[in-house]
Amino acid sequence: MSKFTRRHFLGSMGALSAAGSVPGVLAATPGASGAMTEEITGIEKEATGFANPLRLPGSSGLFGVLPVSEFREVHVVRSEIEVLPGRRTPILAYAVESGGKKFLNPALLARRGDEMRVRLINRIDQPTVIHWHGLSVDSRNDGNGLTVVPPGRSMDYAFTLRDRSSMYWYHPHAHGYIPQQAYHGLASLLFVEDDDELALRKELDLALGDTEIPLVLQDREFDAQGRLRYAPTAAQSFGGWVGDRLLVNLTERPFIQAGRRIIRFRILNGSNARSYRLAFVQGGRRLGFFLTGTDGGLLAQPLRIDQTFISPGQRLDVLVDLREADPGMPVTLASLSFDPMHAEGGHDMGHASPAAPPMAGMDHGQRGATPAAELSTPMAMEGDARALMRIDLKPSAKYERRMPTVLSSLSAATAPANPPRRMQLGHNGKGNWTINGGVFDPKVAALSVQRGARETWLIENAERSMPHPMHLHGFSFRVIERLGSPTLVRELAGARGLLPQDQGVLDTVHVWPGESVRVAIDFAHPHAGDQDYVYHCHTLEHAEAGMMLRYTVKA
Ligand code: C2O
Ligand code: CU
Ligand code: CU
Repeated sequence: MSKFTRRHFLGSMGALSAAGSVPGVLAATPGASGAMTEEITGIEKEATGFANPLRLPGSSGLFGVLPVSEFREVHVVRSEIEVLPGRRTPILAYAVESGGKKFLNPALLARRGDEMRVRLINRIDQPTVIHWHGLSVDSRNDGNGLTVVPPGRSMDYAFTLRDRSSMYWYHPHAHGYIPQQAYHGLASLLFVEDDDELALRKELDLALGDTEIPLVLQDREFDAQGRLRYAPTAAQSFGGWVGDRLLVNLTERPFIQAGRRIIRFRILNGSNARSYRLAFVQGGRRLGFFLTGTDGGLLAQPLRIDQTFISPGQRLDVLVDLREADPGMPVTLASLSFDPMHAEGGHDMGHASPAAPPMAGMDHGQRGATPAAELSTPMAMEGDARALMRIDLKPSAKYERRMPTVLSSLSAATAPANPPRRMQLGHNGKGNWTINGGVFDPKVAALSVQRGARETWLIENAERSMPHPMHLHGFSFRVIERLGSPTLVRELAGARGLLPQDQGVLDTVHVWPGESVRVAIDFAHPHAGDQDYVYHCHTLEHAEAGMMLRYTVKA
């Protein structure tokens, strides 16, 4: 029986009760506070000047949509595009030719079960390798950087796309080069589709690139010539590089036009270090919208929310019903203000009750001598209220589709009974971020797990720390519990401290300072022999500064 035939629909009353059944999930906020109204009005004002049409995935060129069956080679090249109007920006890109058409950073498309057979050809002067972020493939095809492709050389990938339908992504993973290469353009999307996905598109009449729009959020800094600037100081190499300009699909100050209907956004935070607090705003208030999927695909049912964080590496699948909006003015996709908690310097972080014990091996006395001390200086405005994109509402054909009640057969997460493995996040006072006190050594497997084991990992972030979006290669996981959250997170949480996003399948979980996050991981996979992967912070500078470990899945 297909998902489509047993799917039910609900009206607006039903949607509200579905949302109400999830504790802590907010409906729209008509009574937003005065300060919030003022902030949102400021964001909307900023967006009125946005005049660049959003780059959309077309049939060729930058972000062109390309089925994985239709190409056999991808070249890592230096290229040039126009990001700021009238300026040429040198970039690094994935270049593909297929059917007489040229693609840069193609948005790859696959059916679940398809085979990927592709040769990576490195035409730049640095080692590189493609990592397929979120896919569960064997170690060699994972592209985790344990082997890399030197300049002028190539590497063949061959694997089956077994993962749930979702929007995955691909980017470089040669340790020592990851932040620079990703920042200069090496990153794009990989869509895996299955029956649930096709049913959803059919029910809501969605078309990729039109009413279903991928949004790649990135922050960049440019010099006067329009060249990307990446020159982190010691403090930024430790804390993370945050650019002052916000780009969506490599478009600055973008806008789109949308009909009064349900529109789907597939959102990737492809920034090196910046998190966003996303909301759709109009007329001084936040609109309600539906979270329908996360890193690893569709939720069981849509959750009504009115804001959500997204950290580097993460993806969100959302549905916005623009029939709920006032047709007389645009809607703005915003990042609302928040405390980014770069609190190494020692100011108050607004905590609830700290549940995490102090970090073992963290030398408070020495912090003043580390780059961490410089983190209290402004970090290029992460956490500032900013407009990301304006959505102009246009008249459209009558649209009467309703929000589905069922999206997938995803079951509730359960935790194995065995005691958790602890993952303590901290730093060593010498400019390195650490996991369990260790700094990344690619030659040493810091831990091993048994293939087929079900484990609980308890990820504990230090009190005085930064948020860490912790990403696991090889396997996705479920979040079981979130304790010790800062106020700004706890306000959005429901039972067991879980955020709406925590209801989904994740490959990257954001762990705020002072938090203990319990996740359940099923280490079952079909790959014979020992397989080595990595586990790391997806703030790319943190991973480069040591916050990564190699682990082995024992056959
Ligand atoms: Cu998207 Cu190891 O990373
Ligand atoms: Cu990954
Ligand atoms: Cu980190």
